[in-house]
Amino acid sequence: MTDPKLRVLIPTEKIQARIRELGAQISSDYPEGDLHFICILKGACFFMTDLARAMKRDVAIDFMGISTYGKGKTSSGEVKVTKDLDILLEGADVLIVEDIVDSGVTLNYLMHLLEQRKPKSIRIAALLDKPERRLRPVHVSYVGFQIPDEFVVGYGLDYAERYRNLDSVCVLEEDVPA
Ligand code: IMP
Ligand code: MG
Repeated sequence: MTDPKLRVLIPTEKIQARIRELGAQISSDYPEGDLHFICILKGACFFMTDLARAMKRDVAIDFMGISTYGKGKTSSGEVKVTKDLDILLEGADVLIVEDIVDSGVTLNYLMHLLEQRKPKSIRIAALLDKPERRLRPVHVSYVGFQIPDEFVVGYGLDYAERYRNLDSVCVLEEDVPA
């Protein structure tokens, strides 16, 4: 896709190499027991499917839909569950798989919600982390890449539902004519 608004920040080869490392690390951190990956729709779906295939052990996968009531580049801070899980979490090791941690509002809310379902443990894996933007505390156990405070698209991340299927993570530049 050639689009003058897009500047590659993390090329696909680097993403795939990092996911292989994360898969190996998470596999050794959870040598046994029920491990559930929870994919936060829609942004994390590419990351979750690649991470699950980089695992050296069996994992269950499930999907959760979250809306933060935002169509543009910032979320409003109000979180709503639009699709709940199919699988019970009680007694399982749970890994929330998210595309990006920005303000932390979404994951802070989700951690509290899912802890009430009595999993054995619960951790977060995020492909991207923008630590400068944090408003709520969130502990992210597995981070793919820390990135600066720029709006990114691709590899699942969108701007108004566009650009999710780019295989690289790109900065969406402002002020570039279409
Ligand atoms: P938070 O609740 O502010 O941490 O926001 C998390 C959600 O906002 C992510 O799951 C993304 O859907 C979206 N988001 C935050 N930063 C970006 C970005 O740079 N590009 C695309 N979506 C983003
Ligand atoms: Mg998201």
